[in-house]
Amino acid sequence: MSGNTIAQVRLGTDGPLVGVQGLGCMGMSEFYGDTDEPAARDTLAAALDTGVTLFDTADMYGDGANEKFLAPFFGAHRDEVVIATKFAIERVGDDLAQRRVRNDPAYIRSAVEGSLKRLNVDVIDLYYMHRRDPAVPLAESVGAMAELVERGLVRHLGLSEVTGAELREAHAVHPIAALQSEWSLFSRDVEQSAVGAAAELGVAFVPYSPLGRGFLTGAFTDAAKELRSSDFRASQPRFTGENARTNAALLAPVRRVAEAHDATLGQVALAWVQQQAEVHGLTAVVPIPGTRKASRLRENTAATRLRLTPEELALLEPIADRVAGDRYPDMSSTSAARE
Ligand SMILES: NC(=O)c1ccc[n+]([C@@H]2O[C@H](COP(=O)([O-])OP(=O)(O)OC[C@H]3O[C@@H](n4cnc5c(N)ncnc54)[C@H](OP(=O)(O)O)[C@@H]3O)[C@@H](O)[C@H]2O)c1
Repeated sequence: MSGNTIAQVRLGTDGPLVGVQGLGCMGMSEFYGDTDEPAARDTLAAALDTGVTLFDTADMYGDGANEKFLAPFFGAHRDEVVIATKFAIERVGDDLAQRRVRNDPAYIRSAVEGSLKRLNVDVIDLYYMHRRDPAVPLAESVGAMAELVERGLVRHLGLSEVTGAELREAHAVHPIAALQSEWSLFSRDVEQSAVGAAAELGVAFVPYSPLGRGFLTGAFTDAAKELRSSDFRASQPRFTGENARTNAALLAPVRRVAEAHDATLGQVALAWVQQQAEVHGLTAVVPIPGTRKASRLRENTAATRLRLTPEELALLEPIADRVAGDRYPDMSSTSAARE
């Protein structure tokens, strides 16, 4: 390991110790344009080298391909990595928009078998429910997840896109180690109730899309024109039409803060979300920026050492309220829809 390794924090009260920044592996197989497996493998190696230990995937990323791609890396480093995967989004055909949310116990029992097989491991370190189906009582789903822990197939439980009330209800059935939901300078709806509940319960917060799916790095000036139609973001409200130009203009204060620290915009975005741990009294905030490039991985982990001043935090505060467009074209399965 190099001298520039990142700090470690614990997920939940009795969860694993992990590097304070994780790695989102989704884009290595799908969603954000072309994939490049050799570059992705270099990125995984660079992650371990900098002290990143929490690796995030899901059964639906690449329809199983992402878990399969990661399996050899996990196998070679089983004792050094914390494997996080997810169930609940059942894909219907190749169209990403066609999906069903499944939370019933029978589905959960079969989903875990599929993930274990593709990942080629005996146990999953952190198993998340990816989306909530309000038609299934939460206690039933979390009860089925708890059985997986009892059977030794899963070590710790997590939830994604649940409200504060749902997190409390689930935590009463079985301890929840981590809540993974979208949280960034552009997306702060989780602060309505989920963040407070996680702080109160000692549940770690794992912000997904902490770079606003790349927007917060300043990569786009007119995303609607710059993205290829095969890129999932080309259909996302914040990247389309006039919204894309409005949102690019919102980055001016991020750029100012970045210049003051000789940092990149993405580093400021990551430092901001990391510092929310102190702002909200969370025991741990472990963002999982996604990248397929080792150089960006190193840039992102270096952000764990960047500290923003109270004045800088104040300058960044108004951004989220001005963002044009929702997080998803259909917000019905997000926590925001049930707040
Ligand atoms: N629970 C959920 O529902 C959910 C939903 C979405 C995502 N996730 C998880 O969260 C992870 C992260 O979210 P995300 O990938 O959607 O969004 P993100 O981390 O906000 O942004 C990823 C995008 O930013 C680019 N990027 C990363 N580092 C960069 C840098 N230093 N400079 C410039 N560009 C950079 C990446 O491109 P390159 O790859 O080309 O570097 C990619 O296009 C995913 O991988 C996935 O594991 C979970």
